[in-house]
Amino acid sequence: MSDDPKHSGNLPIETEFSDEEIVKSHVELAKTKHEPTANFLLAPLVFVFVFGCLIFVCSIQLAHSTNSFQLHPPVEIVELTPEEKEALRMDRKITSGEKIFAARCASCHQANGLGIEGQFPPLAGSEWVSADPGVIANVIIKGLKGEILVKGKKYGTSAAVNMAAVPISDREIANVSTYVRQAWGNSSAEVLEDDVSRIRAESSGMQDQWVGAELRKMFADSFGQ
Ligand code: HEC
Repeated sequence: MSDDPKHSGNLPIETEFSDEEIVKSHVELAKTKHEPTANFLLAPLVFVFVFGCLIFVCSIQLAHSTNSFQLHPPVEIVELTPEEKEALRMDRKITSGEKIFAARCASCHQANGLGIEGQFPPLAGSEWVSADPGVIANVIIKGLKGEILVKGKKYGTSAAVNMAAVPISDREIANVSTYVRQAWGNSSAEVLEDDVSRIRAESSGMQDQWVGAELRKMFADSFGQ
């Protein structure tokens, strides 16, 4: 009707494509654009799901193994009474002494502490064991030789049968002596490590073993005679 572009249905731009063609190609484009996205959209979803499950399972595992997510769960405080502490200390000392006895003494004095008649004197019921703690400590530190009387029987009558020094620490001597003094019906007081150290220092210049009679004289009061 008129040349006025306002009234014409056509765009004022010169184009080689018709409206129909443009719409068609847009539809095509839209299709090809969205097609790959539609497929790939599934992959992240699967990942999200798998990771979700993983985090869930891990959380349960963590909650179990960390005591409800507490990184530093409170330490269970067990308050021991002084008596319990003392009992525990003695228990450990005796247990340690028992092991040392098995390794260092039982081959001669026997596991039951009865020794072997004529050869190795008994420690069970021995007046040497129940005497001053210095006696047993000295015997272990330096060894013992010479004839002795234990529970009315003679030992060490032959020079070949004597006791060599046992090379163990002061603490080990305290532990094994305490064990021996309280095993097999013996009931003498514990031997302290400090006392063993003092006794070792006192006899440090001595090269030879103790002779039974010497020790007996030194600790005469404690032999109950
Ligand atoms: C190699 C053997 C042997 C070993 C190991 C040995 N003793 Fe003895 N013990 C003897 C003999 C032998 C005598 C006696 C020595 C004597 O007659 O002069 C003796 C004496 C003693 C005595 C004094 C006598 C008595 O019967 O009470 C005590 C205490 C003693 N030993 C404790 C120990 C302890 C504790 C150990 C381990 C740390 C030990 N002995 C390891 C052989 C041994």
